[in-house]
Amino acid sequence: MRRISIVRAHCRPLQFYRARRCLPAQFRALSGNNRMTDSPSPSPLQSLRNKHILLGITGGIAAYKSPDLVRRMRDLGADVRVVMSRGACEFITPLTLQAVSGNRVHSELLDADAEAAMGHIELARWADAVVVAPATADFLARAAAGRADDLLGTLLAASDAPLLLAPAMNQAMWRDAATQANVGQLVARGVQLAGPDSGDQACGDTGAGRMREPHAIAQAVAELFANKMLSGRHVLITAGPTREAIDPVRYLSNHSSGKMGFALADAALEAGASVTLVCGPVALASNPRVQRVDVESAEQMLEAVLADIDSADLFIGAAAVADFRVAKNSAQKIKKQHGQTGMTLELVQNPDIIATVAKRAAKPMVVGFAAETEQLLKHARAKLERKGLDMIVANDVSRADIGFGADANEAVLLSRDQEIELGKCSKGQLARHLIKLFAQQLKPAG
Ligand code: C5P
Repeated sequence: MRRISIVRAHCRPLQFYRARRCLPAQFRALSGNNRMTDSPSPSPLQSLRNKHILLGITGGIAAYKSPDLVRRMRDLGADVRVVMSRGACEFITPLTLQAVSGNRVHSELLDADAEAAMGHIELARWADAVVVAPATADFLARAAAGRADDLLGTLLAASDAPLLLAPAMNQAMWRDAATQANVGQLVARGVQLAGPDSGDQACGDTGAGRMREPHAIAQAVAELFANKMLSGRHVLITAGPTREAIDPVRYLSNHSSGKMGFALADAALEAGASVTLVCGPVALASNPRVQRVDVESAEQMLEAVLADIDSADLFIGAAAVADFRVAKNSAQKIKKQHGQTGMTLELVQNPDIIATVAKRAAKPMVVGFAAETEQLLKHARAKLERKGLDMIVANDVSRADIGFGADANEAVLLSRDQEIELGKCSKGQLARHLIKLFAQQLKPAG
């Protein structure tokens, strides 16, 4: 059995993108000469839904455009946290950025209050991508040198998330050999550039050095996440709990929030798949591009899954399906009888949805979830074999910080011959990493 630990890699699933972007052919220096004056709406395909974007603002006049960038990224669905350098605070106030981002702004490395709320390492881990706009000549020099003597520098050093810089400076400073050498070093390390654009500058010069317009930077940030791993593939996912009626007002259910299944649906979309999400009763909104089928009971979930299974390349059973339902669901509310001290409900077994899918002759790749409170790997492996799955994601739901309802998760992905440990991270990050691993195992289409 091969045991692989990629705790850090998966905490920063976007290391994957970093690996890709290190390939020269994958380089996308977005620098160009077109001055953008209009503000077209972003393509509906580009989304930052549920992405954590850390925006660094450094001290240049273009910082006046940074609140608009925050707004554009939020319009695309991102949760944005802002880090300002001292210089940036001379151009624009933290209060403005706090108002537009809806989050407290971070500016000092040694700030006990800010550290208590979200420490700088935690902030670095939180980020799915780091964007610096505007990125001044001084910042580029500091970043190229790996300086970590202020908050932004420390965050860059501590984060493995992809980094996108939007340089903004006087045209002579941009052309300066030292600046170009710094940019060259950063690009060689896989950092991406958005701009600068050419045109009139605040100082009266004309030339390359204008910060790219906020809508175009937001678009470039969204493109960091776009990939084609599941292009042309259909992914069918179950999510959430099921609800098994006892009578018209009562039911049997469980604590599943559906967050993991919804995060997988987003990650599969991001990877280019068409996605059907069959979900039990949850309080979550899904991406409009997901084909969502809402159900209540396990039997309804099975019916919805079977209606879509023939076209699926990958089936992911992330739902916490109730194992049993009430044998006889009462048409009327069951009344307490006078003097009654107890009650017995007869339960019958529900269909096992994932096992039904895995038994089909023409079946897609099948991945299950094992939510366990003890002997995690043993129980998960037994389920993998008993249900005939290709892979199973095992997670310990006895811990309050991960699993049901929590925003974070920690899991081990088991296949017949591998165990891949996936350390603690957000459900969104875990989902993206899992989708990448599933895509690698998928048989070629056709
Ligand atoms: O409930 P259990 O731990 O057996 O669930 C393991 C896997 O089986 C999960 O992927 C779950 O979605 C799936 N399952 C199912 N139908 C059931 C019970 C579980 O698809 N009735």
